Amino acid sequence: MFNKQTLRDFDLKGKKVLLRVDFNVPLNSNLQITNDKRIRETIPTINYLIEQGAKIIIVSHLGRPEGTVKPEFSLKPVAERLRELLKRPVILTNDVAGSDTYKYVRNMKEGDIVMMENVRFDPGEESNDTEFAKKLAGLADIYCNDAFGTMHRAHASTTKVAEFLPSCAGLLVEKELQILGGALENPKRPFVVIVGGAKVKDKIGLISRLIEVADVVMIGGAMAYTFLRAQGHNVGKSIVEKDKVTLARLLLEKAKKQDVKMILPIDHVVTGEFSFSAEFVTVTTKKFPRTGMGMDIGPKTVRLFKHYISKAKTIFWNGPLGVAEFQRFAKGTNEIAEALADSKAFTIVGGGDSAKAIEQLGLQNKINHVSTGGGAALKLIEGVPLPGLQALSEKL
Ligand code: 3PG
Repeated sequence: MFNKQTLRDFDLKGKKVLLRVDFNVPLNSNLQITNDKRIRETIPTINYLIEQGAKIIIVSHLGRPEGTVKPEFSLKPVAERLRELLKRPVILTNDVAGSDTYKYVRNMKEGDIVMMENVRFDPGEESNDTEFAKKLAGLADIYCNDAFGTMHRAHASTTKVAEFLPSCAGLLVEKELQILGGALENPKRPFVVIVGGAKVKDKIGLISRLIEVADVVMIGGAMAYTFLRAQGHNVGKSIVEKDKVTLARLLLEKAKKQDVKMILPIDHVVTGEFSFSAEFVTVTTKKFPRTGMGMDIGPKTVRLFKHYISKAKTIFWNGPLGVAEFQRFAKGTNEIAEALADSKAFTIVGGGDSAKAIEQLGLQNKINHVSTGGGAALKLIEGVPLPGLQALSEKL
């Protein structure tokens, strides 16, 4: 499936490479990075470029400054972290492909690294503007996209720029595509999928596609209540997307037709209100109280999910199984994370909140692949074309 040029297809010596990365990392209120995974995962690409004698011009966005310069979205903390990880200088310019960037780029030597300020400070980025893309392209000889997490955005630095330079995928993009794509093409079976999260509407495409390839699909999180309602259960005051109940029913029917086991929660941690400190009871689906709200999967469901996890040869997990941002309702999510870490199966975690749970528990080294892409990983699995990937030159 991977038919794009990669860095290995180019002679990089002395070449200026415009390297689009996704350094959109979480920051706390003191503008300190709370998770640097996306930076660490790009290090092999940068080191490869250094080894090959390239001159590296880094482009990234951070947050959503919406086309204006907002100091709280500066890449300063990112540049600092990159210097620490690479143990070499990284110049952060004070503009986006402007005179300051051009000044530094003009004098680069092999192995030098220049990073321009947050590319979303320029309105031309998100509007996929041709003139802005030409300005970016004018800095370099080759364009490399290693921003897997941003592959689903059609922006100037992810798509348009590729019209003006020879282009290729970076090593991280290659790895993500091989692992996520490979899991769907030829999974070792049983292939067990766990999908959680708040809304069915965000995951319809994902679940529908996964039903076509998996042996077991287990559903948790608030979206499980729309599925349970579709099966005719009372789910009290739990969040149900009324306009998606029919769709949930169709997905259940599709799974049945394809002989795929679709597993819904059988017990629930239930509160009277949506609050981090709410008192809770644990009930089976049959005994769901009319005034109760489901906040997490219960212990019987955890055991049931673990049973299928223990039999699996490939596991894909995306989305928390309860209101995991509230500690007392994170138990289901955390136990399933631990079960994945203990599993002998090939384990893949699609980015976003499930990746966050894995990292918070320090389990990242016990999972075969934790994707750096949230939305991009889901779109890839759904089979939706990624504009950032489509834009790259085909293998010759
Ligand atoms: C992400 O974190 O999903 C990517 O960096 C894309 O960011 P965006 O959703 O702001 O486009």
